Amino acid sequence: MTQYKAPRGTHDIYGQMALALEELDKISRAVFRKRNFKEIKTPMFEDVALFTRSIGEATDIVEKEMYVFEDRKGRKLALRPEGTASLVRAYIEHRLDIEEPMGKFFYCGDMFRYERPQAGRYREFLQMGAEYLGNSNPNADVEIILLAKEILSTLNINDVVIHINSLGCQNCRPMFRQKLVNYFSSIQDLCEDCKRRLEKNPLRLLDCKIDSQKFQNIPTMQVCLCEDCKNHFKRVQSLLKTVDCDYFVDDKLVRGLDYYTRTVFEVRSKVIGSQDAICAGGRYDNLVKELGGQQIPSVGFALGSERVLMAAQNAGFFNKLPKNDIIFIALADSELFDEAFKFANNLILNKNNIKQKLNLQDNIVVEGPFLNKSLKLQFKLADKIEASKTILFGKTEFDNGKIIIKDMKTHQQQEVSI
Ligand code: HAM
Repeated sequence: MTQYKAPRGTHDIYGQMALALEELDKISRAVFRKRNFKEIKTPMFEDVALFTRSIGEATDIVEKEMYVFEDRKGRKLALRPEGTASLVRAYIEHRLDIEEPMGKFFYCGDMFRYERPQAGRYREFLQMGAEYLGNSNPNADVEIILLAKEILSTLNINDVVIHINSLGCQNCRPMFRQKLVNYFSSIQDLCEDCKRRLEKNPLRLLDCKIDSQKFQNIPTMQVCLCEDCKNHFKRVQSLLKTVDCDYFVDDKLVRGLDYYTRTVFEVRSKVIGSQDAICAGGRYDNLVKELGGQQIPSVGFALGSERVLMAAQNAGFFNKLPKNDIIFIALADSELFDEAFKFANNLILNKNNIKQKLNLQDNIVVEGPFLNKSLKLQFKLADKIEASKTILFGKTEFDNGKIIIKDMKTHQQQEVSI
């Protein structure tokens, strides 16, 4: 028989990881909601042109990482590689500028990129992101950075560095671009990717992993910023200082998506290996207009859930995952199965406040009863799943209207009337 395996670059999430993911989801939602961000769910696939237009034709994502397919009517679609483009599409399509005047949204979901898989890099991965549309003020950039930071610190992830940079605007970026083209043109033996990108997307050469050794004294965007962009970036930094948020100005931070203007940032963790960006984002003041809407300056970020959980695991977060008490319903006599089955159901539904009457917590988990398993096996199973208590149905006790509650740690047991 064929042995089926998850497709390359995908992964199954189960056990502790699934629990941790649920916690991350809860924590992030609470942080988003506290700051009045509203959830939006967009389709997992969109018109391929939406991504080409927004992310940029000369980016890795569009050039080689998108899952593109045609549907039965010949429409060219792509699995979403990220969430910002879809959100902006939805914002324009549904006039959310009117319906949601604060322009604050968050989303969670699977993203797809055909990348070379390695630890922390998948072809299907999860992102949680927030987008703040319609606020051009530097405080919006800082609010987004703080939002990301708050989620991470709630997960005990504090050993991170926040890299920030400014990519300027359409007034000052062309000068930087030209300086880069001049600089890189003078360098011998650029790798094939760099050669190809030199004309189309010279900013991307800044984070080339192959050629980076050859680059010295590279022109920086800082010296090219126009007055407005300079002031914006200064204000972002002074606000970050005001709220005691450490950061590092990283001239080489350019990001892999073309829609950014002004502030970009990346939060890197030292403990998760080479794929160290656990979340990233920035300002995109022209994207709404480029996709057919009005001029709506915006800023946002997304975290990679898998990478964040790798960092959280390292920070001991998995040891603190909430654990509910498991109550195992055991049968000493199979004749009592129906009674025990009904009891288990009543316990789950907390009929007649049965949990309180039996001194059980409100959030208990109920397991069992099982037929055709010896009592020994049932207790073994209860131990294996780390049940805190076993409720035993025995013929003699039951005939006297009683059950036995056994504490699995202390092994103490007591008879209780039901
Ligand atoms: P991004 O940097 O492409 O930005 O992705 C954000 C985060 O998603 C990364 O920092 C990383 O943690 C995670 N990530 C990316 N690719 C993978 C992968 N192949 N496997 C696992 N995790 C991955 C964006 O997607 C932008 N939409 C962020 C944004 C929102 N900018 C403004 N608003």
